[in-house]
Amino acid sequence: MATIKAAILGFGTVGQGIFHVLNEKREELRDKLGLELEVAKILVRDPSKERVPGTAHLLTDSIDDVLSVKGLQVVFEAIVNEEPSFTYLKKAVENKCHVITANKVMFAKRGLELQELAKQNGVFVGYEATTAGGVPVIKTMKNILLVNEVSSIQGILNGTTNFILTKMRSEGLSFDDALREAQALGYAEADPYNDISGQDAFKKLMILSSLAFGEQPNWADVEVIGIDCITSNQVADATEQGLRYRHVAEVEKHPDGTIYAKVAPMLVDKEHPLYPIDDVFNAVTMETNYIGTLTLIGPGAGMYPTASVMVEDYAEIIGKRAGFVVSI
Ligand code: NAP
Ligand code: HSE
Repeated sequence: MATIKAAILGFGTVGQGIFHVLNEKREELRDKLGLELEVAKILVRDPSKERVPGTAHLLTDSIDDVLSVKGLQVVFEAIVNEEPSFTYLKKAVENKCHVITANKVMFAKRGLELQELAKQNGVFVGYEATTAGGVPVIKTMKNILLVNEVSSIQGILNGTTNFILTKMRSEGLSFDDALREAQALGYAEADPYNDISGQDAFKKLMILSSLAFGEQPNWADVEVIGIDCITSNQVADATEQGLRYRHVAEVEKHPDGTIYAKVAPMLVDKEHPLYPIDDVFNAVTMETNYIGTLTLIGPGAGMYPTASVMVEDYAEIIGKRAGFVVSI
């Protein structure tokens, strides 16, 4: 049986999750795809740091070392920031590797470019994990967009902020304590300012805009307000009035072709569809011409939800190559 060689860039919450899911599902993946999988290298900043037992020999801090693996076919990417991520994935694609990324900072800005480059090189880009964690919003949109048009998207796109707002309301935690808990659970970004300032949700919204409309609004025109302005007293007052804070991202295409987007906290009442969405959950609602309103809800961050959709991307890409999965 042939073996697919893969590399993982980044071995923190998500990178380790990919490694665990690949190991746990090794036999099923082999049986379904008719291919073995070997993780041949793992890129980190500091290879001397103790991580998953039995993986020390795979660690390197050199992308050239990773890309020199003979027969490398798949690169999973779970590092942070636009660079060096884009440069590394560009090199991987030019080396004819499929790439599967969780990095929304890079993908929001360079995703269309990376996909074009992949097309030229005959490989695929999986990016389900960039947006809404374990919620398969990218896959769903790709499938419905063959026939439907999406006119607007609204939702909660950041698990950390929803978790913080939930803990402040339901357990009376302070903002800082709730954030610390989100960090300990692996939900928050390496720099949590990206979560609480709304920048993380904004990047995900831009990825959805590219997919739904083929373009993004001018970033400078988008109002982005985080949850760092919300106090415990405001949360308590809202609860007393039967309202809840939600951090809402929305994008819509107007009939004249302009795209409007905004990310901001919103007070919602019991009738609002986002009212019951608690904890680390995300929700994405799309308005479409034929289906009507379509909503997806699920865990928006965390090791296993995120890693599992990256492995789903892997199975889909490799399965398509093997000729029996059709939807990427
Ligand atoms: P993390 O726990 O901070 O891990 C980041 C990993 O990347 C670390 O192993 C780090 O190496 C490595 N790294 C960072 N910069 C590097 C560089 N320049 N060269 C080589 N290695 C580098 O982060 P994470 O939570 O796993 O998130 C990873 C990516 O997934 C981010 O882009 C994030 O936005 C995205 N994401 C995260 C989640 C989630 O729930 N956490 C969900 C969806 C998407 P060292 O360990 O040596 O420092
Ligand atoms: N920090 C992000 C969040 C991770 O909390 O939603 C998932 O993209």
